Amino acid sequence: MAVIIRKWTEEDIPSLVKYANNINVWNNLRNAFPHPYTEEHAQSWIKSALIEEPTINFAIDFDGEAIGGIGLIFNKDVYVLSAEIGYWIAEPFWGKGIATEAIRQMMEYSFYYFDIVRIYAEVFENNKSSMRALEKNGFYLEGVRRKSVFKNEVLMDDYIWVRLRPY
Ligand SMILES: CC(C)(COP(=O)(O)OP(=O)(O)OC[C@H]1O[C@@H](n2cnc3c(N)ncnc32)[C@H](O)[C@@H]1OP(=O)(O)O)[C@@H](O)C(=O)NCCC(=O)NCCS
Repeated sequence: MAVIIRKWTEEDIPSLVKYANNINVWNNLRNAFPHPYTEEHAQSWIKSALIEEPTINFAIDFDGEAIGGIGLIFNKDVYVLSAEIGYWIAEPFWGKGIATEAIRQMMEYSFYYFDIVRIYAEVFENNKSSMRALEKNGFYLEGVRRKSVFKNEVLMDDYIWVRLRPY
């Protein structure tokens, strides 16, 4: 299986629109992720990804096609050595181990290039496959923020999964 994380390019716009415009993807993400996901959203995402330096948002490439995204959000102030990881995979490709492999590559990159000591993910309570992909990458469950997420008119818990710098 050829999964790599790589820079976004303008050629990815059609696949980005095709795969990101999916309610089942959006349901597990924050509302900042657009829905419906239009061509304009894809263009503006890729425009900003192209000028990003250093790269913190990657396309997840499966056999030559961008079928998802993975990125970091650096924290500020006293939390400056922490970063949040976020990712999504196109629905037709779920359950093939792709998120697990993309997270593995992203962790290697992140701890190599940045001084951060803590990478964490915030996962909605129903998203067991995301939690499992994190667990397989050495993340542990640090805590649960009860009723912290309000999405689709439903109140949910949020699971905080963490991995600390190993060296
Ligand atoms: C969550 C998501 C990234 C998972 O991607 P994926 O490529 O399907 O994940 P993987 O195949 O690498 O791993 C999934 C693991 O979860 C397991 N799993 C799937 N459904 C499960 C369930 N209901 N309960 C427990 N484990 C489950 C799989 O069996 C697999 O584990 P295994 O290898 O031990 O068998 C993908 O579904 C997605 O993009 N969803 C929408 C956006 C999203 O949720 N992003 C993450 C926000 S935190």
